[in-house]
Amino acid sequence: MSDIGYRELFNSSIENPTGFWSDAARAVTWTREPQRVLDDTNPPFYRWFPDGQLNTCVNALDRHVAGGRADQPALIYDSPVTSTKRTYTFHELLDETARFAGVLRALGVGKGDRVVIYLPMVPEAVIAMLACARLGAVHSVVFGGFAPHELATRIDDARPTVVVSASCGIEPSRIVEYKPMLDAALDMAQHKPAACVIVQRDRHRCELVPGRDLDWHELIGNSEPVEAVPVAATDPLYILYTSGTTGKPKGIVRDNGGHAVALLWSMRHIYDVAPGEVFWAASDVGWVVGHSYIVYGPLLLGATTVLYEGKPVGTPDPGAFWRVVSEHGVKALFSAPTALRAIRKEDPEGTHIHRYDLTGLRCLFQAGERLDPDTYAWAAEKLGVPVVDHWWQTETGWAVAANPMGVEALPIKPGSPTVPMPGYDVHVLRIDGSECQPGEDGAICIALPLPPGTLPTLWGDDARYEAAYLCEHPGYYLTGDGGYIDEDGYLFVMGRIDDVINVAGHRLSTGAIEEVLATHPAVAECAVIGVADEIKGQVPRGLVVLKARASAEGLADELVKLVRDEIGAVACLKQVDVVAALPKTRSGKILRKTMRGIAHGKDEPTPSTIEDATVLHAIEPILRP
Ligand code: COA
Ligand code: AMP
Repeated sequence: MSDIGYRELFNSSIENPTGFWSDAARAVTWTREPQRVLDDTNPPFYRWFPDGQLNTCVNALDRHVAGGRADQPALIYDSPVTSTKRTYTFHELLDETARFAGVLRALGVGKGDRVVIYLPMVPEAVIAMLACARLGAVHSVVFGGFAPHELATRIDDARPTVVVSASCGIEPSRIVEYKPMLDAALDMAQHKPAACVIVQRDRHRCELVPGRDLDWHELIGNSEPVEAVPVAATDPLYILYTSGTTGKPKGIVRDNGGHAVALLWSMRHIYDVAPGEVFWAASDVGWVVGHSYIVYGPLLLGATTVLYEGKPVGTPDPGAFWRVVSEHGVKALFSAPTALRAIRKEDPEGTHIHRYDLTGLRCLFQAGERLDPDTYAWAAEKLGVPVVDHWWQTETGWAVAANPMGVEALPIKPGSPTVPMPGYDVHVLRIDGSECQPGEDGAICIALPLPPGTLPTLWGDDARYEAAYLCEHPGYYLTGDGGYIDEDGYLFVMGRIDDVINVAGHRLSTGAIEEVLATHPAVAECAVIGVADEIKGQVPRGLVVLKARASAEGLADELVKLVRDEIGAVACLKQVDVVAALPKTRSGKILRKTMRGIAHGKDEPTPSTIEDATVLHAIEPILRP
């Protein structure tokens, strides 16, 4: 616990941000100490530690080896889907990383070059990310559940020198062949990488394309370790694509310096973890949670991280999480509410919890979607430890609002991610930009500058960064979430106010799904809305209007398959209905919000701007739950 309480700490971060973050920056090992903390000469673009220089991989690995942690576990790979467990010490992880950095360098990867990583939850994913950081190269990890078209879009935007992938991923019910998806993506993409490095997995090996594909294990066996390349604090560490409101994903940029400072601060002050302790984020390296809290956060701190290739249920049972916690001595677990709901459904009494010794577990952190009060109550009662909801986004890289367990454990209000974290000056605004009263719903915004670790811009697209986040309320970053702040200063995040939906903790764009549906020759018009789902929180639902003379026969199945092929299995579109027309405003805007309300069983008033109310009334019976 720190000497001062939350309120004092938070106030100091807002009143004196440069003092606050220059103190926090002392936890980082710099090759050149920053003399300036914040460059605010070009608003609304801000850069933290503009003259600092460091290497993120050195901070995550070398300094712990040099500082006496060489033989401490750095990474525990626990894979129930392959019945494998393997521990890498800091020394071993550094050695593998430095040698893989040698592989990448030999393939022409240097400072600033991009490397796309399309890998399942295997240690090579962590090693590849850290190897890029070592070279000052920029990684872009693509989640394995995305289809070739999504991978191709990201390859064309990031223009990687090398792609790192694997022969397969392993889902409980099937082998996911990555290699054919990579081949298809590279056929589609305009940009062609110089080489692909492929991890051959025993469960399913693949054919390598001569002259393009190389075998990870052969390369690394012949590679020499390379030293780290210092980079500017403001140089990019990674690009992570996330869903926007259109089909074109946004390339969120993360820099090196602010990222290291913020994550180190968060590990101690939010998660209350110390070097040498075991931290487990049960997420995927393809998501921001995986970047920040499977890979970088714990390793920067000198903690041990767990890489879990399995599911909350079915690998083999709903006790899987509790087994991992007890077996590896996990002090803090981070997962998504959807995982808890899946566990609860199969084990409502928590019988599996009692099979394991969980006395080492201090706290359960939740994010990815709102922790609903019902799931909160179940987990808190069954586990008997604080269950802490915290709210953040790919864009922010670390929690905007949380209960800072390493500062002061504040009373928990179910349904609230508690309070803003240092540096996040959170405001709830009305449409006209005025401030909402306590308890009044509005758009959740953050006054600029955002703190270190948050996105400085979008990859190669400053204009889109401004348009998407900064124009709506000048001087503020628009989070895209709606909610309110109560009389005690607690934030309540109630859901997106744009066309982004959250499916099993995965962020998807309804606009992107609509773009795919619209490509079908029978579809004249379509709308996709997010509807409530007991386990996944939300799932997409499609409504399509047919072209004249087009047939509805078999169409729904075709559309479901189309979305799965184009976006990926994670899109989870299972229901598409054919309707005569879509309800619209007189200016032609589809009334998605009204349809969403009806699908959630609400008594939605007919909007005064509606063009033809009979259209809405005609689809009501289809939409009602
Ligand atoms: N690679 C390839 N395919 C993947 C994948 C991956 N990495 N992850 C998921 N998929 C596939 C699944 O196999 C499934 O395919 P199917 O339609 O053929 O069954 C589909 O994508 C949907 O997956 P998912 O949404 O995970 O649903 P599920 O029914 O398989 O599992 C849960 C439900 C709740 C167990 C699961 O969603 C889960 O563990 N969620 C937690 C998510 C999380 O941690 N998010 C990070 C935020 S912190
Ligand atoms: P992603 O960028 O994929 O991490 O998704 C971020 C979005 O998920 C946020 O904008 C929210 O809509 C939602 N989200 C994440 N965590 C929470 C939370 N704790 N409470 C409410 N919504 C959340």
